[in-house]
Amino acid sequence: MLDPEKGFTSDVITDPNRFVGRTDLIRACMQALNSPTSLIAIYGKRGVGKSSLLRQVQQMALGDYTLAENAGLGHEIPQRPRTYLTVFYTCDSMIDSGEALLSRLINDQDDEDGLLRLVPDEGKEVIEFTRAKEASAGADLKVVNWGAKGIESTKYAKVVPDDTVQTFRNFLSSIVQHQVKKRMKRDGLLILLDEFDVLANKKGLGSLIKSLSSKDVKFAICGIGQDLTDLIEDHASVERLLEQGAIHVRPMPEPEALAVLDKAEELYQGELKFDPDVKRDIVDVSQGYPYFVQMIGKSCVTKASQSKTNRVDTEIYQAVLGDIKNGVAFPTLESAYQRAIGTSENRQMLLHLMAEQTEQKTLFHEDVGRIFLKHARQDAEDFNVDYLDQNLPRLLDSKYGPVLRRIPEGQGIYEFNNPVFRLYVRLRAF
Ligand SMILES: Nc1ncnc2c1ncn2[C@@H]1O[C@H](COP(=O)(O)OP(=O)(O)O)[C@@H](O)[C@H]1O
Ligand SMILES: [Mg+2]
Repeated sequence: MLDPEKGFTSDVITDPNRFVGRTDLIRACMQALNSPTSLIAIYGKRGVGKSSLLRQVQQMALGDYTLAENAGLGHEIPQRPRTYLTVFYTCDSMIDSGEALLSRLINDQDDEDGLLRLVPDEGKEVIEFTRAKEASAGADLKVVNWGAKGIESTKYAKVVPDDTVQTFRNFLSSIVQHQVKKRMKRDGLLILLDEFDVLANKKGLGSLIKSLSSKDVKFAICGIGQDLTDLIEDHASVERLLEQGAIHVRPMPEPEALAVLDKAEELYQGELKFDPDVKRDIVDVSQGYPYFVQMIGKSCVTKASQSKTNRVDTEIYQAVLGDIKNGVAFPTLESAYQRAIGTSENRQMLLHLMAEQTEQKTLFHEDVGRIFLKHARQDAEDFNVDYLDQNLPRLLDSKYGPVLRRIPEGQGIYEFNNPVFRLYVRLRAF
């Protein structure tokens, strides 16, 4: 049996040797990391590869430039790159203010990524570790023993009661002084915040981040959005910090999506091969979304194993497509599909009509992915669907997804919230 995870993963990619393509984005991240003041803001659609890029930023921050070298950017790496200690935090929608965010960071006890691990404190034992397999990779700090005082942030020195912002500042300055400069001799502390878009209240976050950024403390934020304002409402306050650091992750161009499959073959070290036709088909249905390539790739490996072959040919691929059509290949996407359509065949029809629409550019954004209802309406008449207007609301209802969202810039323009779900619907039978 071949292990599907050996070549494919639906997880965020932390290992630089599994990360494919994105040369221009890697360059931009490298420049932003090496500018003393710049803020890094990574944005783009769901499933496009933002978090994976953010993890690569973390690697480079630690001084591991394997990725840049692999991408052919070796000559652009600075003589002496700026290096950092790092904190990595994934936000959630329960965080309803800037202060709440700082409070979460102050209390985060993650051994390898949390902020609290870096605050000097008696009895706590912190050791160096590397996040990659390579011995040459950059080191970070992790906690192996939290010490006698326990791990509540309130027991730490320099806590100012009822003043989260000041406590946070105190934590930062003692981290910078003791761990960053004295112990690890780094240039700064990098705080990476993933899923920044889900924060319930973004008011004032830009200016908060600006006020906390310095030559010693840098932020990298990442989340779903089609422009910067989706991430930072008061983006004017950070505009100057963003000269190099605004990074839009778009769907992969076809050669990069293809390279995800080549990379997988490389990881299988000859144990698995894809027929060129199959590769082309997978790239075609994936529309630049690496998540879809990875998931289909994984299914192909499983199917090939079951058929006792190490060659993914058209037959294996068709069997995988058959599973997708029947709704048994990807349980998570399938349950989203079932939730969206409920028991209505008309709604199912409408969903498929929407997913099939050719993507269109709008006046205001270069981004594609918009669906114009009037086109769907024409098609609906051709297909004789009467209940289009009755069936649309559920697709917009957050109780059932929401599958679609209305685009405010014009009437009757919609977008699939999850582009990967759209790709799924296109392959699903109805
Ligand atoms: N550069 C890349 N090379 C190969 N696979 C990638 C790359 N970027 C993302 N992926 C894959 O795509 C999927 C989505 O990636 P992720 O970083 O979680 O996206 P996002 O944060 O934008 O939703 C994961 O399965 C991941 O393994
Ligand atoms: Mg993500």
